[in-house]
Amino acid sequence: MTQSRILYSFPVIALKYLRYLLTASNGSGHGIHSPFLYAFTRQVLDDRIRPQACQPIEALRAHLHLDRRMLDIDDFGAGSVSGRSRHRRVGQVARSAAKPSRYGRLLHRVAAHLGCRHALELGTSLGLSTAYLATVPGMEKVLSLEGSPSVRQVASENMVSLKLFNVTLLEGNFDQTLGQALQQMPRPDLVFFDGNHRYEPTMRYFQQCLPYASEDAVFIFDDIHWSREMEQAWAVIRQHPQVRCSIDLFFLGFVFFRSAFRQPQQVAIRYTGF
Ligand SMILES: C[S@@+](CC[C@H](N)C(=O)[O-])C[C@H]1O[C@@H](n2cnc3c(N)ncnc32)[C@H](O)[C@@H]1O
Repeated sequence: MTQSRILYSFPVIALKYLRYLLTASNGSGHGIHSPFLYAFTRQVLDDRIRPQACQPIEALRAHLHLDRRMLDIDDFGAGSVSGRSRHRRVGQVARSAAKPSRYGRLLHRVAAHLGCRHALELGTSLGLSTAYLATVPGMEKVLSLEGSPSVRQVASENMVSLKLFNVTLLEGNFDQTLGQALQQMPRPDLVFFDGNHRYEPTMRYFQQCLPYASEDAVFIFDDIHWSREMEQAWAVIRQHPQVRCSIDLFFLGFVFFRSAFRQPQQVAIRYTGF
């Protein structure tokens, strides 16, 4: 299936984003009653201070944007033309696949706020989001999965150049490597789902990780409004009986399993990033 048949078109996403901006809570009003959500909003979403630990990652991102090395990419994800190899420059991959800086910094702040020590990521690409997680104070290990060998190779070089020795990269299709990763990291505090954005695999990876989710864990889903399939997956995930709270930030969705939420809570909070 071609990418254009999977994703919403730009005007559709723009309209959905506009509706989100108009209807989402500003974090202090309607729907935000719990102390956990209030603290999350004030201390994470509203925090405008750029973590110093992220500065070398921003510098690396700028450098990668100018990198003209050609990569032979096997894209396993949604929109790939199955089995066909595609050639792209490192700079193109850095511009198109990596989460923008403001969301990278958000991942960093979330992991720091929750005191995460073990993070699992599905979708390394060049390792930029991996690095935002790995630079969190107290982070012991980030295990990140990537299918494309050439991309994984550049990510490895990036981890070395950033001196991030708490990162392990696992190469191969998530269908095979996720089980292996969960053996290596049986209690991830944070799981970032950022690859293969289709309904069936997203649900399968979620179900596979669920038995390993502790009370304090957070699962983060990328691009939850990117396509009909991702919106369907997000709708099912946020209503799962084990999920006690979900936060929709439009480009990212967070789910929590804390029993302190006696009644399940589903909120959308306006976030445009810092
Ligand atoms: C959107 S990119 C990840 C971006 C990265 N998290 C960041 O923000 O810097 C998704 C990556 O997942 C990989 N991927 C997608 N589906 C996969 C699968 N089924 N198995 C292994 N890797 C996969 C792709 O090769 C791609 O590099």
